[in-house]
Amino acid sequence: MATPAPALFAEADPSFTDLLAARPALTLHAHDGLLLEGVALARIAEAVGSPTWVYSAGTLRRRYRALAAALKGAGLEAEIHYAVKANTNRAVLAVLGAEGAGADIVSEGELRAARQAGISASHIVFSGVGKSERELRLALAEDIHQINAESAEEIAMISALASSLGRTARVAIRVNPDVDAGTHAKITTGKSDNKFGVAFDDALALYAHMASLPGIQPVGIATHIGSQITNGMAAYRAAYARLAELVHGIRARGLPIQRIDCGGGLGIPYRDEPAPSPEALAGAIKATLGGLGLPVMLEPGRWLVGPAGVLLASIVIQKQGASRRFLVTDAAMNDLVRPAMYEAWHGILPVSPRAFAAEATPADVVGPVCESGDTFARGRALPLLKPGELVAFLDAGAYGAVMSSTYNLRPLAAEVMVEGDRFAVVRDRQSYDAMLGAGRLPSWMENAP
Ligand code: LLP
Repeated sequence: MATPAPALFAEADPSFTDLLAARPALTLHAHDGLLLEGVALARIAEAVGSPTWVYSAGTLRRRYRALAAALKGAGLEAEIHYAVKANTNRAVLAVLGAEGAGADIVSEGELRAARQAGISASHIVFSGVGKSERELRLALAEDIHQINAESAEEIAMISALASSLGRTARVAIRVNPDVDAGTHAKITTGKSDNKFGVAFDDALALYAHMASLPGIQPVGIATHIGSQITNGMAAYRAAYARLAELVHGIRARGLPIQRIDCGGGLGIPYRDEPAPSPEALAGAIKATLGGLGLPVMLEPGRWLVGPAGVLLASIVIQKQGASRRFLVTDAAMNDLVRPAMYEAWHGILPVSPRAFAAEATPADVVGPVCESGDTFARGRALPLLKPGELVAFLDAGAYGAVMSSTYNLRPLAAEVMVEGDRFAVVRDRQSYDAMLGAGRLPSWMENAP
């Protein structure tokens, strides 16, 4: 039997108007086209070129405050440590830091970025399954708030390092609760066959062992079950119920525990997924952990920054294939890799008022990179667009710029922040000199060109 041809048109996609209505920082101006806050995206493209990431400071603040208010409203004593990996831009970190966010970091680079943006070491938590000795030394020297250890081997390493440096490391054990968060396989982390955390059954004994080691102060337990969780609170509740069980075990052994790190993972609606609210998450935490009398910590990344950013791109060319219309943009998989990597759906809006209102017909939106995987969307309803016309990829604030590369020797795109009616470049577009200049010839080839 012949395989049916892929549908030309993805029927159930939300309309441009629906996409806009769900994104308060984006509006359509009759003359200037799409605005992020008070700034026309066309103005940014004119000044900075494309592709360019554009972040809304107001959205970052609004979301941080909504999350903090939800936690407070549930009566929780909670600290938010923004998962820096989602967006490491200095200005983004500075906005969130000024709101009171701490940082959840996973590398020396992220530790440095958080400190550079003014987040104090006492608000930094170090997560990750493979912290190097060098990274741990730096974390200990900076005396960061907490290290989330992921194995007995790592705990031994922290104890030895801290003792030799005359430091005491505040350590939490990241527990793998063996629950299925129901997310994309590449971003689920809480199943027993994932590389993350300490097996639930081993956690209590390891906690007790940790308490006997020099150089370590056991402070708590942590978990993170996955990312882009949109299917309700059941997985969170299951994981947190296991943490509560563990807290009882820890206390029954007379061991100290000061806090619980509830991880990140709260999803956002990229298309029209049912978005779990921060209130729902706060309620799940309250219901499962609220009775323990311990402060909690959260490590959200995507929920805070995802909806705050767009990737602004220009049409390079529109071409008619044998059966499909292709819109080739100057952004590619090296800029926004999520569609290629996770089959992720991102809203795509035309920027000009004319294109926004024009008749939309199915098109495949692709980048110029030499791989079929360099496809942002198939059968997306979009108008005819001429070279130079602009489109905005929505919800690109999280895992966008941070995952980009120079594949096909395409320089890293610029990053811009808007605030009301102002905008500023907050990361320069990479120059060709910066991209190519680090290459060296071995001494025996020095006379080559
Ligand atoms: N805490 C830990 C230990 C994590 O590993 C992560 C994300 C977070 C917190 C933040 O999770 P969030 O709140 O952002 O879901 N590149 C993928 C997502 C990878 C997530 C990795 N860990 C994507 O583009 O969907």
